[in-house]
Amino acid sequence: MILKAEALTKDFPTPSGPLRILDGVSFSIDPGESVSITGPSGSGKSSLLGLLAGLDRPTSGRVLFKETSVSEMEETELCAWRRTSVGFVFQNFELVSSLTALENAALPLEILGRSAKEAAARAGEILAALGMGARSGHFPHELSGGEQQRTAIARAYIHEPEIIFADEPTGSLDEETARSVVDSLLGINRRIKTALVLVTHNPELARQLDRSLTIHGGKLA
Ligand SMILES: Nc1ncnc2c1ncn2[C@@H]1O[C@H](COP(=O)(O)OP(=O)(O)OP(=O)(O)O)[C@@H](O)[C@H]1O
Ligand SMILES: [Mg+2]
Repeated sequence: MILKAEALTKDFPTPSGPLRILDGVSFSIDPGESVSITGPSGSGKSSLLGLLAGLDRPTSGRVLFKETSVSEMEETELCAWRRTSVGFVFQNFELVSSLTALENAALPLEILGRSAKEAAARAGEILAALGMGARSGHFPHELSGGEQQRTAIARAYIHEPEIIFADEPTGSLDEETARSVVDSLLGINRRIKTALVLVTHNPELARQLDRSLTIHGGKLA
């Protein structure tokens, strides 16, 4: 087991009382395993990824990474864990607008203290492999949605994390580009045994992963 969700619930306060958006979600993921999460819009997929990656804390239950409870880590420990062990592709990309595609992709390595030169070289390789070679000097506002998405994917795996969370990583891509992005993610999953948790609405993509989970109204089906 590399990651385990134990009876996760998440409530948000609303004027008419707490709204439960995740309700007793439990499952575990093995090292190197790839798992898809599917479910209707609003079913809690992004919220679940946020809890698993330590971007948000559950109302009750906990997330374990190996033997450590992510949900109970202090903020500094949590940041260090995210930097070294986790890659995340956000549904809305979350690129740094003042940095080029290359600089965005290189960021995780630089934060880990690698030289700017090494980080840029590696980012250049990954972006080229994702068909972004000619666009790596562009800023996010100069990139198409699919190009921003591929930049976000490069950033998620440049530091070879133990687990990658990807929230609809092919949602903005045409079929052919989507296939090459998925090949990249599955390639790194197989090559360095990075576990992959991927939210998708695409059943064909879900079938390419080891296991599929479905969520409905905050509960695993
Ligand atoms: N901060 C918040 N406050 C209140 N409700 C929230 C908050 N964040 C999310 N929600 C609600 O929680 C539910 C689950 O949202 P979430 O973003 O996890 O869905 P999703 O499955 O990722 O949907 P989509 O496929 O559209 O991305 C939604 O009904 C949403 O409105
Ligand atoms: Mg979502």
